[in-house]
Amino acid sequence: MAGVRNTASGHAAIAVFSSARRHGNTGQLIDHIARELQIETIDFATVDLSAYDYEHRNRGDGFEPLMQRLLAYDQLIFASPVYWYTVTSTMKVFLDRLSDYLDLPDLLPEGRRLRGKQAYIACTSICEQAPASFVNTFVDTFEYLGMRYGGIAHANCEHGYVAARHDAEAALLIQRVKQGRSVDVATSAHTGESP
Ligand SMILES: Cc1cc2nc3c(=O)[nH]c(=O)nc-3n(C[C@H](O)[C@H](O)[C@H](O)COP(=O)(O)O)c2cc1C
Repeated sequence: MAGVRNTASGHAAIAVFSSARRHGNTGQLIDHIARELQIETIDFATVDLSAYDYEHRNRGDGFEPLMQRLLAYDQLIFASPVYWYTVTSTMKVFLDRLSDYLDLPDLLPEGRRLRGKQAYIACTSICEQAPASFVNTFVDTFEYLGMRYGGIAHANCEHGYVAARHDAEAALLIQRVKQGRSVDVATSAHTGESP
């Protein structure tokens, strides 16, 4: 899907996505959200992302070019299914690699650009709510990095992705992104409930 578009608030947004299947439940959820917002989705399966390395011998992989793209946006939507109470392994690799932007002196100024960005979660599971362990993986990371949590869209896909129902459930998140709104993490209590 083509490039950059500012939301009504003037805050440019982009989605990053990880799932074991591109057009499964989470893929359908993020495609709906991205379509409504007319934003790009980057599928981590198309990025050469290698696991965190204390020696940083993987600096030539796709992570830094990916980050350069993401840092151009004010709002980031993180899309992942719940796999064993947390994010997909590839999404976790991405989160681990954010440490590069804290560890490496030449990347540190770039890493600081994450501060103040608005971050959202889009996820699917087979439960009524996303587990706290899943939500906290993101929200605690956002908080550590100085990003502002903007809320979650969660679809219970026990019976698959039902567009008539689940597209509508994403409406609140879509509205928040359009408005560039954050939520009070203390009051939303890191639950899977939409704030
Ligand atoms: C490896 C694996 C682990 C899963 N673990 C959980 C889980 O801990 N909690 C849950 O509610 N659903 C779990 N599920 C169900 C998925 O979250 C659910 O089917 C989701 O919508 C799949 O999205 P996808 O089509 O993008 O993979 C798991 C599914 C898989 C394949």
